[in-house]
Amino acid sequence: MCGIVGYIGEREASDVLINGLTRLEYRGYDSAGVAIVNGSLEVRKKKGKVKTLSNDLLGNALKGNLGIGHTRWATHGPPNDINAHPHLSSDGSFALVHNGIIENYTTLKETLSQRGYTFSTQTDTEVLVRLIEDVRRSTGLSLGKAIRQALSQVQGTYGIAVVSKDDPDMLIAARKGSPLILGVGEGEYFLGSDAAPIIEYTRKVVYLNDGELVVIRRSGFTVFTVDDEPLEKAVYELEWDLEQIEKGGYDHFMLKEIMEQPTSIQNALRGRLFNKAPYVMLGGLFEAIKTLKDVDRIIICACGTSWHAALVGEYMIEALARIPVEVEYASEFRYRNPILRKNDAVIVISQSGETADTLAAVKEAQRQGIPVYGICNTVGSTIARDTDAGVYLHAGPEIGVASTKAFTAQVTVLALLALKLAKRRNALSDTELKAFATHLLAIPGKIQQVLDGAKSIRKIAEIYRYANNFLYLGRGPNFPVALEGALKLKEISYVHAEGYPAAEMKHGPIALIDRFMPVVFIAMNDSSYDKVVSNIEEVVARDGIVIAVTDAPKGHLDDLCEHVIRIPHTTELLSPLLAVIPLQLLSYYIAVLRGCNVDQPRNLAKSVTVE
Ligand code: G6P
Repeated sequence: MCGIVGYIGEREASDVLINGLTRLEYRGYDSAGVAIVNGSLEVRKKKGKVKTLSNDLLGNALKGNLGIGHTRWATHGPPNDINAHPHLSSDGSFALVHNGIIENYTTLKETLSQRGYTFSTQTDTEVLVRLIEDVRRSTGLSLGKAIRQALSQVQGTYGIAVVSKDDPDMLIAARKGSPLILGVGEGEYFLGSDAAPIIEYTRKVVYLNDGELVVIRRSGFTVFTVDDEPLEKAVYELEWDLEQIEKGGYDHFMLKEIMEQPTSIQNALRGRLFNKAPYVMLGGLFEAIKTLKDVDRIIICACGTSWHAALVGEYMIEALARIPVEVEYASEFRYRNPILRKNDAVIVISQSGETADTLAAVKEAQRQGIPVYGICNTVGSTIARDTDAGVYLHAGPEIGVASTKAFTAQVTVLALLALKLAKRRNALSDTELKAFATHLLAIPGKIQQVLDGAKSIRKIAEIYRYANNFLYLGRGPNFPVALEGALKLKEISYVHAEGYPAAEMKHGPIALIDRFMPVVFIAMNDSSYDKVVSNIEEVVARDGIVIAVTDAPKGHLDDLCEHVIRIPHTTELLSPLLAVIPLQLLSYYIAVLRGCNVDQPRNLAKSVTVE
């Protein structure tokens, strides 16, 4: 949510910044701006996409090799040129970009107004700029120290980057609650909200922690603690490469990421799953499993698509390992003073590893002294570092705002965890463990088969592209898949869709059904098949149009339904991994046919770093 970039070195800063902002655009696309130092300090910012800004710079370039940039997801103040970042100090001497929310900005603004400061934007960020000015004016401190002192008065979250025309060899950044990474090059440094804008220049990175402030010069950088003490920081090597964050010939990142799923799941399984004992090895949870296997209850917290993966995990862990599981929205968990008991454990799931509510859930569990484990995709992300232990998805960078490959990788890792716990608790026989592992190992190949049928799903999308409402129904572990299918459609094509457990249809949604209402059923040939077919009959009897996703052989379903999407068979608990694929494709094609911006749907952001 909001992307920050920064550069100091010998290159043209505006090229590096625009490039970086383009890569970070999935974090927000309400406006974009840069500030460049070159004797003077110039700011250029525009409402809308990074492209609008780069077009503006084309005819009227900003020269200089020190600068900061920002792509905005608006929180305070509508998206327009004025509210766009960077924000300048009143005397035009320094510029600042900010990701996060200054929660006490109204109080600070009032005090600063009384002290004679004026404001031209509606943002909380401008208040921080004026506060830094005020600290400087009243104390005579250097810019770095004034920033530190101003930040100590701020409540809320921030990742900031600052440049000043008075010091052409200094880039300052600080974070609390919003991610920032420093890329370390030869005589040059890069800043980014994540690794995407950095990776084409260097793989060496330093992760800033909350409360840390870094002063970067061409000759080196120093990280300071909250108490202004210099700190030794480890330099890490990034795992992802540039190819992974480019579209690779696909029209959209979302399609690329859907198509990558056989590989991303293979990567999530690599070195972790075997079809003989010990069946599963999860290095990151090696010690944690000793605790997890004996807990009375696991609580999984997550948001959005990750929450849907958590629901599938609930079915898997309860069925295989027989440990009670509760799934919570992280945003609810954090505020309702949850009752956690000594023998509970919390697992958080987050693709980005930066979602503010999920991070707050981690803190709440830690406050209550409960172990917290993470399932994250982004290596080195805040949640990955702040949890006691965890598992990475290894799904590679996910750029499309609507999550696809992260979902299937999350479900895969949850399946591994369920199997591991089942083994350690002796909840399954060796034959059962082997059978499940064998099914899981076959999933990537089966997903490929579903993807090979993408054209037929596009045809269905062509027929229903104008529908205004969709209903998605599933049972058991495919109930969360119904929720996920509906979410995908809402997110990228702005079509109203609801997901429900199929049996709940009778308690409300059935009233909506008519011949204009496509109903997508996940009707797997498993323990609930007959019941789901009865639900389909109920919809057909009311003139509803049914699109069924099934592994059942040709037969009665084909007579009942308008369209049947056949997918391969797997064991019931793993069927979500296959059933979700046609739903991802359906929403993708409908969105494309409706002319929607698939990778950057309106109002959404990939990484929600504000509450
Ligand atoms: C945003 C994204 C979703 C994602 C959710 C949780 O809403 O648009 O795709 O599922 O955040 O994100 P996380 O990174 O914590 O999985």
